[in-house]
Amino acid sequence: MSVFITGVAGFIGCNLASELLAKGRIVAGFDNLCRGSRVNLTEISSHPNFSFEVVDLSDIDAYRHALHDLHRRQPVTEVWHLAANSDIPAGTADPHIDYRDTFMTTFNTLVLMRELGIPVIAFASSSAIYGDHGDRPLNEDSGPLLPISNYGAMKLAAEAAISAACESHLEAAYLFRFPNVIGVPATHGVIQDFMRKLRETPGNLDVLGDGSQQKGYLHVTDLVDAMLFIRETATDKLSYFNIGASDKGVTVRYIAETVRAHVAPEATLSFGQGNKGWVGDVPKFTYLTEKLSLLGWNPRLGSEQAIRRAVKEIARQEFGS
Ligand SMILES: NC(=O)c1ccc[n+]([C@@H]2O[C@H](COP(=O)([O-])OP(=O)(O)OC[C@H]3O[C@@H](n4cnc5c(N)ncnc54)[C@H](O)[C@@H]3O)[C@@H](O)[C@H]2O)c1
Repeated sequence: MSVFITGVAGFIGCNLASELLAKGRIVAGFDNLCRGSRVNLTEISSHPNFSFEVVDLSDIDAYRHALHDLHRRQPVTEVWHLAANSDIPAGTADPHIDYRDTFMTTFNTLVLMRELGIPVIAFASSSAIYGDHGDRPLNEDSGPLLPISNYGAMKLAAEAAISAACESHLEAAYLFRFPNVIGVPATHGVIQDFMRKLRETPGNLDVLGDGSQQKGYLHVTDLVDAMLFIRETATDKLSYFNIGASDKGVTVRYIAETVRAHVAPEATLSFGQGNKGWVGDVPKFTYLTEKLSLLGWNPRLGSEQAIRRAVKEIARQEFGS
């Protein structure tokens, strides 16, 4: 009886795997290492209950071969599907990337779950499925769902495919709509971008957009805790939850100032124009998380605390200090 994680070598996947192993579960994971890394698995790679294979999940033949083989050795009882393109601008430049790594990996996962009779999926969805609703607070039933990035569009299409599979062959599905998640090992994201820019040009930090973009941030330890709580507690056949801090979030200016104070106090901040960092960036969203709160879970860290903790952690990762 094992848990299978796709995208296990990525930022959230390796944190989830560690937590499941700590709870005594048997965990297997696949990743094609396009963004994840074996280094992220160093701490768990020799754990007796963990196994890992490099597999491209968009290649159905390779995926079928590897998953059938795994299931024969160690029956998989649930899939945590985290593999996806996590780079929104890359998906705007080339929409095939989200189609292949976000949608097709989901579609192929559902095809193989059906073949193998694996009954439960937990899916890493995103606030990006809602689109740009300005100041309007968004709960799980807000609409219309009109994503403004190809990333969000393929996440929404993946949710739709899982919903349909729930009607035909799955016993249960969990759709987790993440906000911006931060912590280590960082593989992408605003804090790491700022630190890498400051390493290149220590005197100046170019910020995309005017710094007024405002979003909620959640530390990865809270995120993993919330996902496991929902998996244990929610009883609907198809459960879908916003996961996030219950505050109004923080601005990009706040993040830039926090990073600067920590790694390059002398640097000048240079802001761009407009309130979007890139095409497909939702400048502001306010997440309502009452549904999860009513189920009994609340985050330990608010957005500001999560940013401050992640800045310290990512500085250690990037600069060793
Ligand atoms: N980090 C966030 O702020 C955030 C927010 C919303 C949703 N999510 C979602 O959570 C999940 C995990 O995100 P993350 O931050 O850990 O990103 P990540 O990029 O670190 O992890 C994704 C992993 O998927 C792997 N992958 C991509 N395409 C693949 C393919 N075709 N075959 C096999 N592996 C493949 C990558 O190598 C990577 O290790 C993703 O689905 C992401 O869209 C993340």
